Amino acid sequence: MTIKIGQVGLGRLGRVHAENIVHHLPNAELYAVASVVPEELDYAKHTLGVPYTYTSYSQMINNDALDAVVIVSPSGFHTVQITQALDKGLHVFSEKPLGLEMTSIQKVVEKIEATPQQVFQLGFMRRFDDSYRYAKQLVDQGELGALTTIRCYGIDPSEGLPSFIKFAKGAASGGIFLDMSIHDIDLIRWFTQSEFKSVYALGHNIAAPELNACQELETGACLAELNNGVIAYLLAGRNAHHGYHVETELIGTKGMIRIGNAPEKNLVTLYDANGVVRPTSTHFPERFKAAFVNELRAFIDAIKTQAPASVTGIDGLKSTEVAIAMQQAYETKSIIQL
Ligand code: NAI
Repeated sequence: MTIKIGQVGLGRLGRVHAENIVHHLPNAELYAVASVVPEELDYAKHTLGVPYTYTSYSQMINNDALDAVVIVSPSGFHTVQITQALDKGLHVFSEKPLGLEMTSIQKVVEKIEATPQQVFQLGFMRRFDDSYRYAKQLVDQGELGALTTIRCYGIDPSEGLPSFIKFAKGAASGGIFLDMSIHDIDLIRWFTQSEFKSVYALGHNIAAPELNACQELETGACLAELNNGVIAYLLAGRNAHHGYHVETELIGTKGMIRIGNAPEKNLVTLYDANGVVRPTSTHFPERFKAAFVNELRAFIDAIKTQAPASVTGIDGLKSTEVAIAMQQAYETKSIIQL
């Protein structure tokens, strides 16, 4: 049976998911899309061959032929759209973050847990990246001994900064910790199998003073302690001039691992007048190309095998709770205990 998907959102990431469903998921069909941008609907209809297009999400999920939704709308819509889809009996894949504030997140997690026969998966795609999966395997096998320290960098390319500043003037991302650090929070929980105990955070807009007026940060940094004693340092930024820099360092009692210490595009090394150059990946669709396909494949497999998904509502709730605590630590200049 082919799983019929309705997707909301065809923006920066929505387009990636839509193309992956159409071109890389033989067991799924992109049956309907919803967007408020007419050109995006035209693209879906004419380029991707999507049979049904809607300007309203509520209308789309009234299409009785649908089995599942993929939610790639702005973060503030996630909890409402997840709830509506679950009420319709649909399986749900939702982009991160699960939501922007805890009351609605708690309610949506209760709903997810009350409907276990419907698969719910959250879009923490780094867990589906080959390098991260390999590192996780090594950690779980005990190759590093006991984990002691984790350092995470998540820095967007500077070429995206002007469009982020434009976006930040009109809409809320939830802040840099909810928008960006949340991926690293999830990785830390995944690698350590432990929860955050306390966080302290700092931030600034030295590289983008215009963001001061939008209550947004270009750089946000956090020092955290986990319940098992691991120390974590998380740096999120929006101004990497060399490309899309996602790097994770895991230090253990017997060794250490670095994932993505240079954001390499591929195996090419260029030798020219600039010296020895390793070209870099320029944004998330490139760096996590395979991971985005893998996570949706896992979602479809979970529906077909009636198995629970590996990234749950609780993962969304816990990571959001930590990101909100980081924001609060930054705003109040104090250590927040979770
Ligand atoms: P975007 O702003 O580029 O696109 C938003 C899309 O939602 C547009 O297609 C717009 O038409 C649609 N939309 C907005 N309001 C709507 C409404 N009321 N009804 C129906 N459609 C509506 O956003 P972007 O950057 O693609 O982000 C979308 C989500 O994906 C966010 O939650 C973001 O956090 C997440 N994201 C995750 C990434 C990851 O690494 N996993 C990377 C980038 C984004």
